[in-house]
Amino acid sequence: MGSKGHHRYHWQSHNVKQSGVDDMVLLTKITEDAIVENLKKRYMDDYIFTYIGPVLISVNPFKQMPYFGDKEVELYQGSAQYENPPHIYALADNMYRNMMIDRENQCVIISGESGAGKTVAAKYIMSYISRVSGGGPRVQHVKDIILQSNPLLEAFGNAKTVRNNNSSRFGKYFEIQFSSGGEPDGGKISNFLLEKSRVVMRNSGERSFHIFYQLIEGANADQKSSLGITSLDYYNYLNQSGSYKVDDINDKSDFQETMHAMKVIGIKPEDRTMVLQIVAGVLHLGNINFKEAGNYAAVESEEFLAFPAFLLGIDQNRLKEKITSRKMDSKWGGKSESIDVTLNVEQACYTRDALSKALHSRVFDFLVESGGSLAVSFVHVDAVHLENSSPDSSSPRSSQGNGEEHRELLHNGRQTCGSAELGAEGGIAGPVEREYAARPVARGQWPEASGQRPLERASVYRL
Ligand SMILES: Nc1ncnc2c1ncn2[C@@H]1O[C@H](COP(=O)(O)OP(=O)(O)OP(=O)(O)O)[C@@H](O)[C@H]1O
Ligand SMILES: [Mg+2]
Repeated sequence: MGSKGHHRYHWQSHNVKQSGVDDMVLLTKITEDAIVENLKKRYMDDYIFTYIGPVLISVNPFKQMPYFGDKEVELYQGSAQYENPPHIYALADNMYRNMMIDRENQCVIISGESGAGKTVAAKYIMSYISRVSGGGPRVQHVKDIILQSNPLLEAFGNAKTVRNNNSSRFGKYFEIQFSSGGEPDGGKISNFLLEKSRVVMRNSGERSFHIFYQLIEGANADQKSSLGITSLDYYNYLNQSGSYKVDDINDKSDFQETMHAMKVIGIKPEDRTMVLQIVAGVLHLGNINFKEAGNYAAVESEEFLAFPAFLLGIDQNRLKEKITSRKMDSKWGGKSESIDVTLNVEQACYTRDALSKALHSRVFDFLVESGGSLAVSFVHVDAVHLENSSPDSSSPRSSQGNGEEHRELLHNGRQTCGSAELGAEGGIAGPVEREYAARPVARGQWPEASGQRPLERASVYRL
């Protein structure tokens, strides 16, 4: 493809040497070995994309390929699948055109193990759609929000794992709504099942969510003093896994990008400050330790309560009470009574950690909702959705089979085109990942955080 020279884009007219087969339905023998062999042959020649019929397989090249420029955007626009080498732009274009011509909602589901390149693929789809769809300033604003949601959600929901330095630790469904002219006029992001346990613990060699490191590295002097920012190893929540820096990540400049993204998305300055206060508050909460005092937990040194209490805007003694005791409702006959039960050290640690996890996850939900306030939709699984709100699409086409029904259900006759990034087995840490995939279908509904229309969301996966 591109790496082979400028004149080879159209393999039919330029007689490009084929590397393996473009479409694996053409393999003479369809066995696992033949498929792997074909993918390997192509990968060695820098062709990362291969079709199996309408399905696109993408192999992570771990280096920037040269075929994602303007030239390729132009090349794939409006051309048929077989005209050009397999490419994610071909898939995105197909999706966009189907939405415009057939007036049907579209969804891409991206599946693969952790580090396979799902998030990068979803970004390519979004940037392609954003490039080929027209629009004035209002449309540009929508596009900015769509594109800026990525760095923001990644700061709070991605982390370095042993398999991927930028692993998505949450489910994401991203829906873009289009006017009848094909311009994005809104969108919605849904997230679900953030791996919040990462805030308080993780495997060695892994990091917590990027935002914690970004804040410490990127905060200015004022922020440092008002938020009590010191060094990375000062915070218990960060110093336990022995990993602070990531080779290809610049936390300092990413912090500026995160702050900029919050601004573009429309988060008010006072809310931005509050978000940072909570992020710092969580770090400080982690430094509250407990000691045994007659079988019960007592805060080891009370001065560690002051900063988190201040940052979270709560009374220091209330915070102490909250993390060293638990309210219990007891029912005796018709009488119910509420009593405070004192916790032991282990329980107090759990309570402190539960508070930290809940705080981070609420901030994350807040950011997702802020990004979705324009009416755009994102779900992890990485899904991308496009929606066309033309007047004639309000009378849905006749249902043929399940797929059609689901599509209609999905957007009440409006049209969407989206993408879902599905972490397959091992995609996002084992059990959590499986829960992502299993829950919507098994229970017929989406987890709370994603907002309304639970059944419709579930159907995305069945398309
Ligand atoms: N098309 C690509 N070109 C160049 N590098 C890529 C490409 N796809 C992926 N990568 C590299 O691989 C890394 C991991 O990819 P990505 O974050 O998309 O994985 P993922 O499938 O989303 O994993 P996870 O399930 O852990 O979130 C990227 O940060 C990037 O460095
Ligand atoms: Mg990812």
